[in-house]
Amino acid sequence: MNTKLEQDIERVLFTEEELRQRVAQLGAQINADYAGRSLILIGVLRGSFIFVADLVRQLSLPCTVDFMAVSSYGAGTTSSGQVRIVKDLSEDIAGRDVLVVEDILDTGHTLSHLLRYLEGKQAASVRLCTLLDKPSRRTQPVEVQYCGFSIPDYFVVGYGLDYAEQYRSLPYIGVLKPCVYEKP
Ligand code: IMP
Ligand code: MG
Repeated sequence: MNTKLEQDIERVLFTEEELRQRVAQLGAQINADYAGRSLILIGVLRGSFIFVADLVRQLSLPCTVDFMAVSSYGAGTTSSGQVRIVKDLSEDIAGRDVLVVEDILDTGHTLSHLLRYLEGKQAASVRLCTLLDKPSRRTQPVEVQYCGFSIPDYFVVGYGLDYAEQYRSLPYIGVLKPCVYEKP
């Protein structure tokens, strides 16, 4: 374990075991809901890469995996600005059942833009699976079909989630000490 990174964690919010159990439950729900069909998972880079890897191994359906990357420009530290597609789909999703897989839903800016974009591609269906949701921060309505955990307005890292590209490798999800990002 990287003890240097761990010093910046105020407390663990979800342990490895809690994450494992919740991802298995989500997988079981998705297997039941899409029984007899096949699925394309679209991971939103980069925060979702570990969640996608764990979730896909819980699926018993035929599925393919693709990724998109978006960047958001806005004032301050939130993604309240314009959303730009940095990496587009590699697969054609027309006629497919699509499941967008995201690390965390915050203001909803990123996902409302992304879902609107995907809706123009004639998919058979488009649903959203997010590991974490901070509903108190929402400014754009987003419909979520699968949610791992709803959390208060904490800034969290680990299990793929970053602050300044760090902490993604922590195997649990932890609350980052505010002193790390509240630089004078
Ligand atoms: P939204 O567009 O405001 O919903 O922002 C969603 C994106 O912001 C997520 O995909 C994350 O990349 C990032 N984000 C929001 N909250 C957190 C957090 O607590 N930790 C790490 N990244 C976050
Ligand atoms: Mg992200």
